[in-house]
Amino acid sequence: MTGNEIRKKFLKFFQDRGHLMLPSASLIPQDDPTLLIIGAGMAPFKPFFTGKMKPPATRITTCQKCVRTGDIENVGRTARHHTYFEMLGNFSFGDYFKHEAIAWSWEFLTSPKWVGLDPDRLYPSIYLDDDEAFEIWNKEIGIPEERIFRFGKEDNFWEHGAGPCGPCSEIYYDRGEKYDPDHIGERLFFEEMENDRYVEIWNIVFSQFDCDPTIDRKDYKELPHKNIDTGMGLERITSIIQEGETNFDTDLFLPIIHATEELADVKYAEDKMAYRVIADHIRTVTFALSDGAMFDRAGRGYVLRRILRRAVRYGKNIGIDKPFLYTLVDVVVDNMKEFYDYLPEKAEFVKEAVKKEEVAFHKTLSQGEKKIKDVIAHSD
Ligand code: GLY
Repeated sequence: MTGNEIRKKFLKFFQDRGHLMLPSASLIPQDDPTLLIIGAGMAPFKPFFTGKMKPPATRITTCQKCVRTGDIENVGRTARHHTYFEMLGNFSFGDYFKHEAIAWSWEFLTSPKWVGLDPDRLYPSIYLDDDEAFEIWNKEIGIPEERIFRFGKEDNFWEHGAGPCGPCSEIYYDRGEKYDPDHIGERLFFEEMENDRYVEIWNIVFSQFDCDPTIDRKDYKELPHKNIDTGMGLERITSIIQEGETNFDTDLFLPIIHATEELADVKYAEDKMAYRVIADHIRTVTFALSDGAMFDRAGRGYVLRRILRRAVRYGKNIGIDKPFLYTLVDVVVDNMKEFYDYLPEKAEFVKEAVKKEEVAFHKTLSQGEKKIKDVIAHSD
């Protein structure tokens, strides 16, 4: 299954179950001064969760474009960090709650008609004292007690800045012994949450509180109704289905990596980190600029400038010493245009802006190098 097919299947599954499919919202938040950029599938729907606005339907499904930069130093270093990713989600605004959300996630993942993963490789986790979720997993879905993990506030309570939040139940996939050379097994859940063997693939948030970052979590107010907010990273589920070593080793990234190989002195296998940084960052820049963001000295534009400059630096590591990122924009657009059909008409503008920014950064770098050389030449 291609990444495109997985995206389509997810949306079809939830449309068949009464959800309205909406297109991804822009990466640029609308009427939300608390966010610089959209970083979660639920972010555009905050007013629907809190009851401030009436949703167009009480069941919605989306594939939402997201950008997160908090962990940018890990991008390229790890198997699953990205600055740009897509979040598949199904949402209930005061409609269904735990039973349906859990049952449907299980059906989508395990039914051969949909994704058809081996149920023996899946492990649910629940919030510490969420016995209701435990009973559903154990009695209704039939998962033995010893395969259901109870995690605490750090891992199984989901919040994303101010607004809707709640306890959650996550689903992990066991990628097998190959990714566990020391044979640690299920203990890995407790020793190292971000391990390469057990990968969290789906997060089902029982969104029932209103997060106020200035107060203690136990004092959060209840939302007017109980909601469901789920998130399944498209890149993660694609790497599981396509059996990629990392999210980058899937058809969502490999065309960009192969196009970069044509320009570089070393191959992907020789400097995977550089290639992964470049592939991730050019996706971020292409989508953000297509949504109307621009490089700048402050705010969102400064974040994008830093991302682009990081990609330029990693390009130098693989022998690309001239502007090149702009040539990868077409590769991103070709790979994603089936779902994001507006991308081709933005491509020329994005390429121009990226090229201009690259040229300016190269100039800054060579001026800096010249200054350093001058200082060294006059230092004795
Ligand atoms: N909103 C749930 C998630 O992004 O994990």
